[in-house]
Amino acid sequence: MNKLLSPLQVGALNLPNRMLMAPLTRTRADAGHMPNALMAEYYAQRASAGLIVTECTMVLPDTSAFGADPGIYSQAQMEAWKQTTAAVHAKGGRIFMQIWHAGRAAHPGLNNGAETVSSSALAVEGETHTPEGKKPNVLPRELRVDEIPAIVQAYADAAKRAREAGFDGVEVHGANGYLIDQFLRDGANKRQDAYGGSMENRARFLFEVLDAVCAAIGPDRVGLRLSPLNSYNSMIDSDPLGWTAYLAEQLGRFQLAYLHLMRADFFGVQKADVMTVAREKYQGVLIGNMGYSAEEAEQAIAEGKLDAVAFGTGFLANPDLPERVKRGAPWNKPDQATFYTPGAKGYTDYPTL
Ligand SMILES: Cc1cc2nc3c(=O)[nH]c(=O)nc-3n(C[C@H](O)[C@H](O)[C@H](O)COP(=O)(O)O)c2cc1C
Repeated sequence: MNKLLSPLQVGALNLPNRMLMAPLTRTRADAGHMPNALMAEYYAQRASAGLIVTECTMVLPDTSAFGADPGIYSQAQMEAWKQTTAAVHAKGGRIFMQIWHAGRAAHPGLNNGAETVSSSALAVEGETHTPEGKKPNVLPRELRVDEIPAIVQAYADAAKRAREAGFDGVEVHGANGYLIDQFLRDGANKRQDAYGGSMENRARFLFEVLDAVCAAIGPDRVGLRLSPLNSYNSMIDSDPLGWTAYLAEQLGRFQLAYLHLMRADFFGVQKADVMTVAREKYQGVLIGNMGYSAEEAEQAIAEGKLDAVAFGTGFLANPDLPERVKRGAPWNKPDQATFYTPGAKGYTDYPTL
């Protein structure tokens, strides 16, 4: 595993290995979307990752999709995150915060009745969990153009707060059917103004967010996550390969720390080789994710297909994943039943070697 365990310069950071911890929502935050000591312990346990990317973190109040997801929209949250960054840094680690607006995946039942917004008035199919049990996803209101600058600014403010809290940088969450993705993919974006229609228009919101976040904290501390194929949250695009090619090419101008690409669909519906297209068109550091074993990751890096791999469930269940890879040791199996349950069980109690 010479390649996977070798260092890599990622923007302003020198990673000691190429195994990132993928962002994982674990719904262990306290009331008021406050990060806590248990979360600090969990992340610190995983400090041997080349780079930890946190769970998606709310840039604005009343945009929760999961209930106990953390925020970074208040001074109090910023202060409370310091225990996580200090604990990770004390163990020699590096950590980015994934900054996020859920858009239409937020539910009023989780958000003090707040209205749900999106690029267009189209709902996510099916139901979602709320404190009153499962409820149908609501029909969002289409954002007016004059509302967009304040949301863009919220991402930049969140990035600034994340840096103040000690994070090494941020990953802009452009994946998995949340607000940015709701603009990007044509199955969710039916707008007929400057933010809809052509690929260029659908990318406008993302590019405004990236410009603002990069201006706020410097592009060498900003990553971006995209999921061209994922149908989670009722997402689809008519041309995932063209979409990937366009974005990968355009993203070069931002000089980001990295592009983090999910190569597949949670549900296996949409299929295409997006990694190859991204590699051809994108000049910067390319990170792959979804279903990689250490062996496949090693080979993909050796063949120059990508620069690093993010492991989700691997790190979830194995706090010492790089050490296991180094020693060729077996991996603990993730327990799905405790992915989103409160407390330490299935969170901070996975054994190290
Ligand atoms: C419990 C759980 C929570 C997740 N939460 C997030 C999240 O907050 N943000 C995100 O971009 N992806 C999230 N994902 C997707 C993972 O980052 C990753 O893409 C997925 O686990 C596939 O990678 P793997 O095969 O290495 O596990 C989540 C996945 C799981 C299993």
